[in-house]
Parts: sequence; structure tokens; C-alpha cells
Amino acid sequence: MASSVLGPGMSRAKPLRQTSERIRVALIGCNGMGFYNLQDHLKVPGVECAALCDVDEAVLHRRAADLAKITGKTPKLVKDFRQVIDDRSIDVVIVGTPDHWHCLPTVYACQAGKDVYVEKPLANSIYECETMLSTARRYKRIVQVGQQQRSGQHWQDTVALVKSGRIGKLRKIKAWGFFEYGRTAPRVSDSSAPPGVDYNMWLGPAPERPFNTGRFHGNWRFSWDYGGGLLTDWGVHLLDIALWAVDGKMPKTIQSVGGIYAYKNNLIETADTQTVLYGYDDLHIEWEHLGGLQRGYYGRGYGVAFMGNDGTLVVNREGWELIPELEGDKPRTEAIPFQQPDRGDHLKHVTNFVDCVRTRQLPQCDVEIGRNAAVLAHLGNIAYRTGDKLVWDDQAKQFVSNARANALIVPGYRSPWKLPQ
Ligand SMILES: NC(=O)c1ccc[n+]([C@@H]2O[C@H](COP(=O)([O-])OP(=O)(O)OC[C@H]3O[C@@H](n4cnc5c(N)ncnc54)[C@H](O)[C@@H]3O)[C@@H](O)[C@H]2O)c1
Repeated sequence: MASSVLGPGMSRAKPLRQTSERIRVALIGCNGMGFYNLQDHLKVPGVECAALCDVDEAVLHRRAADLAKITGKTPKLVKDFRQVIDDRSIDVVIVGTPDHWHCLPTVYACQAGKDVYVEKPLANSIYECETMLSTARRYKRIVQVGQQQRSGQHWQDTVALVKSGRIGKLRKIKAWGFFEYGRTAPRVSDSSAPPGVDYNMWLGPAPERPFNTGRFHGNWRFSWDYGGGLLTDWGVHLLDIALWAVDGKMPKTIQSVGGIYAYKNNLIETADTQTVLYGYDDLHIEWEHLGGLQRGYYGRGYGVAFMGNDGTLVVNREGWELIPELEGDKPRTEAIPFQQPDRGDHLKHVTNFVDCVRTRQLPQCDVEIGRNAAVLAHLGNIAYRTGDKLVWDDQAKQFVSNARANALIVPGYRSPWKLPQ
């Protein structure tokens, strides 16, 4: 998986790096997952935190205090991420911002010769995903995407088992996410942004819009300008596993149905209930989410089921099992009872990234793998938003004969931010 070696960096940064050399990391977007990522980075020998950046001063100071408890030190604190990009002493940037703010910090960091750990989904549009991939390649940067399952042993084992033919001919991959938080917050009125929040910078390239707590920290996931609902949130993690089993191949056709069926009075733009069908020549992938519910399939609120002719392999973060198919009353393959998961995948993922920063190997979830999973999720949302059965040309990175769908590939950027070319 992580095999090819990148050439030396062509950029402004010093070439990396002796094992003994320290790696100076900055975190952009400190509230939730970003800080979790930073904490695991600091567990890897040789890594130190050089800066914290957030547009919300309350978050910035809370995380600075948390960091002081862990390391005994307070790094540089900044509200404008361009100060991180311009700081030549910083080697690595962790991007833990909402999805609409993944692309520019990643692109600028690559151009400035820094390596990047960026959260999933890679970006909030197909165009941005492509741009991030090409920029990382052009500047020969290491970009690890936060799909940490890629570093988990039980995920690696189950995908290998499926690919070995153990469940027979693979016919369908079903991925689903039923999550209580998908019911979203009750609708509240617009208000002014809290003191200390640079709301204009939080919006960044997204359209101007009044502040609303229901679209702010954590809640932005359910507004199109900043996220894509449960499909780009959990869907990216689980569809990534499906794509792994089909070697990253993109579907030919995409159909989706859904809507806001349950939470019409809540602040939600994305679908609370949605199914997507991705068509291939001889199998299909299905994504399904029901926000606000928790029960799901096979007794699991979320997961991936690989359905083969001889059996179904079901996996999620809590473990996995193989359920044999029957030939009359005889199993077609041997059952594998419930197996415990690898709960250390996140630290392994971060450690793999730091190793790759030193060795210049491609990481476990290189930007191209992140691009594939994010694009698959966006294809599903574009099918939902147009209501059309879409045909995807993966060479041209365009939908065939569908101007409405193609118009949703490239995001509009609000001035002064410019969409990277
Ligand atoms: N890998 C995983 O398992 C996992 C889990 C949760 C979230 N995530 C991903 O992590 C990302 C962050 O999610 P979250 O739930 O932590 O969101 P959040 O809203 O809780 O935190 C985002 C932070 O970014 C800050 N921010 C926004 N714009 C900024 C800018 N221009 N510069 C600096 N800071 C800025 C916000 O003020 C906020 O503090 C999302 O992309 C999400 O999909 C991944």
C-alpha cells in the first residue's frame, strides 16, 4: 500500500530528515478532531507543537491550556492560518477545520514545503480534491488523510480476506451509518458571532451568511456550504473500506434518493435519510444513512457488509465476523465468529504519517486514497441534489451529458479567496 518513494522536496523547506531531527507541528482548527490528532502526534518521539491556530479565541486559549498540561509549554497562538504557512520553522501542518476549509490550508502548506495531516473528507467538493492531489504531487509533499481505519489491523485483515475470495464472488458492498447526532440541532435564530470569533475567517471561501450556532462548531456538517451531511462525514470512512476492496475503482453510475423526512424543524440542509447506489459492471456499492437513529443492520449502528456468493463479512470499529451463506442447509464456507478490533488505529495512523515525513514514503492513506473516498461521497450527494441517475467519466472527471451535475463539481469561492488552479 505505502510503497512508492517520493523524490526530495522541491520546495522552500529544508529537506527531511534524520530520525533524530525534531518535527515541528502546527495545528489549524483546534476544537475537536484536530486537537485529538495533535495529541497523538505528540506521542510520537521527536514531534513538538510549534503553533496552535483557530479563528475562535475561546477555543485557542482552552486548547493552549490543555496543551500546557500535556507538554508544560505554550506554543505560538495565532488566529490567521497564513501566519502558520509563512513560518519556515514549521515542518508539518495538521488541518482540523470544517470541510470547506481543508483545501486552501493544505494547498498553501504544500506550496510552502510543509507536509500535511488533513482530516477527512479531503475537501468539500470534487474539484478541490483533485487540486489537493495535484498540488501534493507537484510539490512532492507527504499528505496523510484522517481515514485512520487504513492503519487498523482488523480493517486490513478483513479487506485482505474479501480480496482472497474467502466469501466467494463479491456481489455487493453495503455501508451504512445510523447516528443519533444526525438528527441535528433544533432551529435557532441567527445571532451575532461570540466575542473573539473571527466569523468572516470561519466562513472563508464559503458564501457570506449570518452567524448561527446551529451551523457553527460541529454543527456545520449539515449545511452544504461547509459539509455534506452523514454521507461525507461517516460515509467517507466506510466507503473508503468499500473502495479498498475494489482497488479504488470509481463507479460508472450513481443514483440517490432521500430527503429531510424526520427533522424538518431542525437546522439541516443535507438529507437526514439517504440511500446511494454506485453501479459497477458486476457488483454495486450501497450507502445508507438515517440520521437520528442508532440501530442499523447486523446489530450494528454503522458498518460495512461485504456480500459474497459464499458469505457476508461484517466489520466496523467494534470488530468483525463472517456469516456463511447456505447451500441447502450446509454452510458454503466456514463461519468466523466475532473478532475483536484493533483499537489503536489512530495512533498507528499518525505514527505512520510521521515515519513517512522522515522517509518520504507514501503514507497509508495518501492523498489519492483520500481523494477517492471523498469524491465517491460527493458523487452520491450530487446524485441526490440533482435527482438524476448520473454516469461518471472518471478519466474526464465529469458527468456524462449532465450540465446540472457538472455545475456542482467546482465550488464558488468568495472573494478575496481564490480557488487554487
Ligand atoms: N477522522 C475522524 O474520525 C474524524 C472525527 C471527527 C471529525 N473529523 C473531521 O475533522 C474536521 C473537524 O471536525 P470537528 O468536529 O473537530 O469540527 P469543529 O467545528 O468542532 O472544529 C473545527 C475548528 O476549526 C476552527 N476553524 C474554522 N475555520 C478556521 C480557520 N480558517 N482557521 C483556523 N481555524 C478554523 C473552528 O473555529 C473550530 O475550532 C472535519 O473535517 C471532520 O470531518 C474526523
